[in-house]
Amino acid sequence: VELEEFNTLHLPSIAKYYLEVTDSQTLLRALHWADENRLQVLILGGGSNLVFSGDFEGLVIRISIRGRSWEQAANSEATLVLGAGESWHDAVLYAARSGYRGIENLALIPGTAGAAPVQNIGAYGVELQDTLASVTAYDREEGGWVTLNKEQCGFAYRDSVFKRNPGRFIITELRLKLSRDRALQTGYRDLQEYLGDPLPDKLEAIDVVEAVMAIRRRKLPDPEILPNAGSFFKNPVVPNEVYEGLRNQFDGIVGYAQPDCVKLAAAWLIDQCGWKGFRNETVGVHNRQALVLINHSGGSGRDILALADRIRQSVCERFGVELEMEPGIVGSGCSSEIG
Ligand code: EPU
Repeated sequence: VELEEFNTLHLPSIAKYYLEVTDSQTLLRALHWADENRLQVLILGGGSNLVFSGDFEGLVIRISIRGRSWEQAANSEATLVLGAGESWHDAVLYAARSGYRGIENLALIPGTAGAAPVQNIGAYGVELQDTLASVTAYDREEGGWVTLNKEQCGFAYRDSVFKRNPGRFIITELRLKLSRDRALQTGYRDLQEYLGDPLPDKLEAIDVVEAVMAIRRRKLPDPEILPNAGSFFKNPVVPNEVYEGLRNQFDGIVGYAQPDCVKLAAAWLIDQCGWKGFRNETVGVHNRQALVLINHSGGSGRDILALADRIRQSVCERFGVELEMEPGIVGSGCSSEIG
């Protein structure tokens, strides 16, 4: 099966076997079959965080388990239960339109609900871990169903127990704790600028959703038009002393203070090296966000990875900072990944 349409970078790759599953029982049977035939398994959600660097000799399982329901808690709180195959953005809209707050800043992030915990998706000052209550998954190592609470998910910036143990957990459902009256997070600079100061009266979750959508559409390319996988690198975290040193040397460097270190804006570092808007025959760097790589015309995973390598090298030479890739790489010889 050709996977080009199943990854947002539209990289060509052929999977030996492919199955779309809509329920947990079929998922289990498929896993069993793969084990019996000693095949590697790749779990695919929306394919928005993957780089296919070659063909895949195993079984690709696309998770299309649907379902969206509420568990009403006391007062103004409720738990939103999502099947892993639900569209993340649709879930954000649904929650906000129902008047519930907590995930509105995460509007328009491509991909499925089930992929959201893997990299602890985050944007505009909010991360999934801020509302996540629990995740239901099949544990392939222990051979059984597990429900992991937030602590057990081991979340960090763009990281989780799921990302650190590729292929072990297959997420089928997540539960988010939302509320009608929690404070809206409007402090991220772009959002603050968009909404204005002072904030408009009666601001609701849906207004934040609309603001985030407008900001993202201005800066981030639509994968349907310019195939991409969102931020290609993580924002690198450096010790305070390193940041101070860089600040003395490089005017305008962008860093966000963390509890005891500083997170640098990778986009700024890449931009300073002159990459924004760069393109060769096949691939390039977005002209409004230097952190986004684009497959312009028929590029392969190797083309994308070669460009990423050049970018990494130039940032390292200029700033002495190592960039770490955000998406997972899948190809012949790779173990299972989740995307
Ligand atoms: N900047 C540049 N050049 C550019 C783009 C940005 O110098 O080409 C500067 C901006 O001026 C700004 C800073 O870099 O001061 C940060 O830019 P931005 O606010 O766009 O955010 P980011 O740090 O580049 C992160 C996430 C995004 C998320 C935004 C908004 C990571 C790796 N990326 O990007 O997430 O949408 O913040 O919260 O943490 C994703 O993960 O795929 C993703 C898009």
